Amino acid sequence: MKVRVMIALFSVALAPLAAAHESATGVVKQRMEQMERFEELIERVFAMMHGELSYDARSVQSAAQEIRAGAGRHMTDLFPRGSDGPPSEAKAGIWQDFETFEHYAWMLERWSGELAVQAGRSSQGRLPKDWEQAEMGPGMMREGGLMGRGGMMNQSGAVFAAWHVAATCNACHADFREEE
Ligand code: HEC
Repeated sequence: MKVRVMIALFSVALAPLAAAHESATGVVKQRMEQMERFEELIERVFAMMHGELSYDARSVQSAAQEIRAGAGRHMTDLFPRGSDGPPSEAKAGIWQDFETFEHYAWMLERWSGELAVQAGRSSQGRLPKDWEQAEMGPGMMREGGLMGRGGMMNQSGAVFAAWHVAATCNACHADFREEE
């Protein structure tokens, strides 16, 4: 009974997504699939850091490397000028301020690279429950994202890097992705 309710809820939640994917083609479809994959990977990393899955340094590392491989130039190449409009959720603002958009894509590359390096080291700190709650703090954009002061200082290693990866996803979405 419980299981059936969960399956029903699940398919309702997934329905609009599937619809967007069906009508998307070419580069828009490609980047949607890439973003979906990013979500799967960061969710797995968060689950391991929260202890919902057992922590496996190698699997954190490979998730980070896969995100890195799709970030930076590889990501911005999937956003050619004029590729907004339904079913895409990309804002036209991307091409009005491509420099900022590129900066986020580059930060994602940098922080996922850092996460890959730090995956096997001991780390401390707390992550929000959900990757979508990791917010960019003031000053994070400076120096490629290292925070000098404030609450993040007592975080270290892999947790610190994972927080920055997620905060980068969210910062770019806040600026350049249409609200659902
Ligand atoms: C440089 C900016 C940028 C970064 C960084 C970024 N995204 Fe996105 N993301 C977007 C944009 C723009 C869209 C909307 C794309 C479209 O609909 O054409 C999007 C869409 C998505 C979607 C919805 C995909 C769909 O099926 O419609 C998910 C999920 C997502 N991103 C997850 C992530 C995760 C997780 C990360 C970090 C690991 C991330 N994104 C990093 C810009 C970014």
